[in-house]
Amino acid sequence: MVHYQRYIQLRKGVSMAASYVDEEDACLNMSGCNKRSKPNLLFFLLFCTLLSACLLLAPFPTSTLSLLYPSGGEDERVSDSKTSLCSSVSNGTICCDRSSIRSDVCIMKGDIRTQSTSFSVFLYTNSGTGKHQFRQEKIKPYTRKWEPSTMATIDELTLISTNLNASDSATGNQRLNCDVNHGVPAVFFSTGGYTGNVYHEFNDGLIPLYITSQKYNKKVVFVILEYHEWWITKYGNILTHLSDFEPIDFNGDKRTHCFSDAIVGLRIHDELTVDSSLTEGSKTIKDFRDILDKGYRPRIQGLLLEEQSSNPIKLKPVATRVEKPKLVIISRNGSRAILNENVLVNMAEKIGFSVTVLQPQRTTELARIYRALNSSDVMLGVHGAAMTHFLFMKPGSVFIQVVPLGTNWAAETYYGEPAKKLGLRYIGYEILPRESSLYEEYESNDPVLRDPNSVNDRGWEFTKKIYLDRQKVRLNMVRFRKRLVRSYIYTMSKRNGMVRSQ
Ligand SMILES: *[C@@H]1O[C@H](CO)[C@@H](O)[C@H](O)[C@H]1NC(C)=O
Ligand SMILES: *[C@@H]1O[C@H](CO)[C@@H](O)[C@H](O)[C@H]1NC(C)=O
Ligand SMILES: *[C@@H]1O[C@H](CO)[C@@H](O)[C@H](O)[C@H]1NC(C)=O
Ligand SMILES: *[C@@H]1O[C@H](CO)[C@@H](O)[C@H](O)[C@H]1NC(C)=O
Repeated sequence: MVHYQRYIQLRKGVSMAASYVDEEDACLNMSGCNKRSKPNLLFFLLFCTLLSACLLLAPFPTSTLSLLYPSGGEDERVSDSKTSLCSSVSNGTICCDRSSIRSDVCIMKGDIRTQSTSFSVFLYTNSGTGKHQFRQEKIKPYTRKWEPSTMATIDELTLISTNLNASDSATGNQRLNCDVNHGVPAVFFSTGGYTGNVYHEFNDGLIPLYITSQKYNKKVVFVILEYHEWWITKYGNILTHLSDFEPIDFNGDKRTHCFSDAIVGLRIHDELTVDSSLTEGSKTIKDFRDILDKGYRPRIQGLLLEEQSSNPIKLKPVATRVEKPKLVIISRNGSRAILNENVLVNMAEKIGFSVTVLQPQRTTELARIYRALNSSDVMLGVHGAAMTHFLFMKPGSVFIQVVPLGTNWAAETYYGEPAKKLGLRYIGYEILPRESSLYEEYESNDPVLRDPNSVNDRGWEFTKKIYLDRQKVRLNMVRFRKRLVRSYIYTMSKRNGMVRSQ
């Protein structure tokens, strides 16, 4: 759960209302919950207006401006107008947009040739007066620019623009010879960093890759730094829907690849989402999800056939029997496990759910998880990287996140808010101190139980050691039951057409 580092860094300097509200009855029905988003938007717009007025009237020192950055996407929208930097790049130039806190992106057009031994990408121009011109840009094509410790592990590329011409061989310099000529653009990015954790794989990698490359309609080659074979295998079904071509292992393939168009680095909007106002073709996170659906479909159909042939008698459920709403519990073993999971399963079944308990491992085939979640009505789990699988839920279905002590902000930022943007009915269940295993270890007035924010403010080590690595959850079933019943009723009314589908 390394991405928590951001949690701490972003919280610095931000005054976070330490609101601990037991939302027991704050929000009885879900349509009521969703309505609340509108005033927030109005407030946000008002805030923007005031802010820009202030900025015009009294220029802030830059240190004050940096306070505006922490919440990421929204602030970028304040400063970025729709036409981003480098939106039109002329032939023979390199344009780097370093305005985002999350990633740098450079665009090259012209005679582009790679040299992996020197981690360079050359752009040869014919411009010039005969004088040798040379300009270079350095870039690490990864989307966690604000985290020096992560970026330190990422390979750096040098983009070199030079007017070195074909007959310049006297100096010993020569244009590289093309070993492979590509007729389509290249997108360069790294699969290093935190890749290996499902949240980071989607948030730092796949979604930004979709945002950056979808406009090419698969006519694009991926050139990958810190290339991992397992990554290509794991996400193969998705990659084939983003590119028609074999990806290139930049370090492993020493040939010179030539392009006439390249994007180095990936654009990223916000946590686990796609901002339609910043995307060519106004794409949203639902369009990204459609790619997942297309990608996993062949494999899922294969699994169905296998099951039918090995079990031919149980062909299809009897059509007249009403199918129960399906609840999938994403289960954890160890820290942040639900200690009374069995009781939870029994109760959910009594309410009327058909319950599946899934414990995704790093090796679990994503198509199988997709299959389970795409056909379920409710996903339930304790805050953690596996919550990223909410992306596999159909818009209009329910996602219940159990939020352990000290993880409210992260749970909302990384999963709650993005889930709403996908169109899920989101319920964040903030546990009470008594529902935490920490209740047995600390005095009831200890800040660990009473004021988790103050503990988080002491530093990341504390958050990790106390709240993430050592906390388990024992759900208060009287309290939790209400959420399940609400989800059940919602699902049934949706089936009966009583809820406007999204
Ligand atoms: C772009 O520039 C390269 C080299 O500078 C040249 O070979 C190519 O023809 C140019 N392409 C266009 C479309 O002008
Ligand atoms: C290309 O090379 C020739 C011979 O070295 C030189 O005369 C000419 O100025 C060069 N052109 C550019 C644009 O560098
Ligand atoms: C996901 O569920 C939808 C709606 O039930 C269905 O149409 C679609 O085929 C499913 N996707 C896959 C890959 O099975
Ligand atoms: C939980 O993890 C331990 C150790 O990693 C393992 O031995 C055990 O089988 C796991 N339990 C389940 C239910 O997966």
